[in-house]
Amino acid sequence: MSRPKVFATHPLFAAPRERLEARCEVNYWTGAERPPRAEVVERVSGKDALICLLTEKINDELLDAAGAGLRIVANVAVGFDNIDVAACTRRKIVATNTPGVLDETTADFAWTLLMSVARRIREGEQLARGGQWRGWNLDQLCGADVWGKTLGLLGFGRIGRAVARRAAGFGMRIIYSDALRAPADVEQRLHAEFLPREQVIAEADFLSVHVPLLPDTRHLLNAAAFARMKPTAFVINTSRGPVVDEAALAAALEAGQIAGAALDVYENEPQIHPGLLRRDNVILAPHIASASVETRTKMALMAVDNVLARLDGKRPPNALNPEVL
Ligand code: GLV
Repeated sequence: MSRPKVFATHPLFAAPRERLEARCEVNYWTGAERPPRAEVVERVSGKDALICLLTEKINDELLDAAGAGLRIVANVAVGFDNIDVAACTRRKIVATNTPGVLDETTADFAWTLLMSVARRIREGEQLARGGQWRGWNLDQLCGADVWGKTLGLLGFGRIGRAVARRAAGFGMRIIYSDALRAPADVEQRLHAEFLPREQVIAEADFLSVHVPLLPDTRHLLNAAAFARMKPTAFVINTSRGPVVDEAALAAALEAGQIAGAALDVYENEPQIHPGLLRRDNVILAPHIASASVETRTKMALMAVDNVLARLDGKRPPNALNPEVL
């Protein structure tokens, strides 16, 4: 019997590769950069399964190029705004993502960004490394306290809640908004208070974004939102770039409407708004919130398990469109 054919747009890691190759014939993109679109379109043709990253746009054009045999698109990411799920559903292709395994690692990183921007670590590191440091001084690089402040969470799903758990250790007041209010026991356990979004934005000292990118959440933080924030407050974004209007953020920072920002994601990755690049009170990371060896390996294993389940006629554990099964 011929082995199912898979195209993976990344060589993955040893453990997921081994699991996949035990059952499938796999073609990997191994280039150091992300593959050109034409390459993905060509290589997906005739495959039974596609394992892709969030950098690949999965739409009608790509699915048509794959042909009728494609049965699953397995994203190695929890966010799936790169996938036109309806287009997959129309073709009875299952789309899957990797929820859960990256929550704590992503929350760790959101916390890292929050602490870094509050305590001016970027400027401090530059001073220490750059040979300009003339020794301790009373008013040198004074930042903002984190402990005892108010943490505002926009989005209170798995990752938002994991960030709230970290804030508890810093004695913070935790306020959140979400399309759905959390159950009372969750609110009590995390000492989190549900408030209207406008109030969370206005009262937060640190405003951390944890919503998926949807038509409703695009530019959730815009010029009006920044105008409502405290001038001493910081924005942290580890969700998706377009949730924040980058030009409006750059303008708000320029005008001193907010104190700083720490970002892992951008509207047009890998481009970053020049108004953010030149600011000292902005921490910029290259979309690495889930990037620990352990977590990225787990994400790839999860994508592989989704593929193997589908190819074996079983229900992939993380199907986004289970109605096709
Ligand atoms: C990363 O951004 C992810 O969605 O997993």
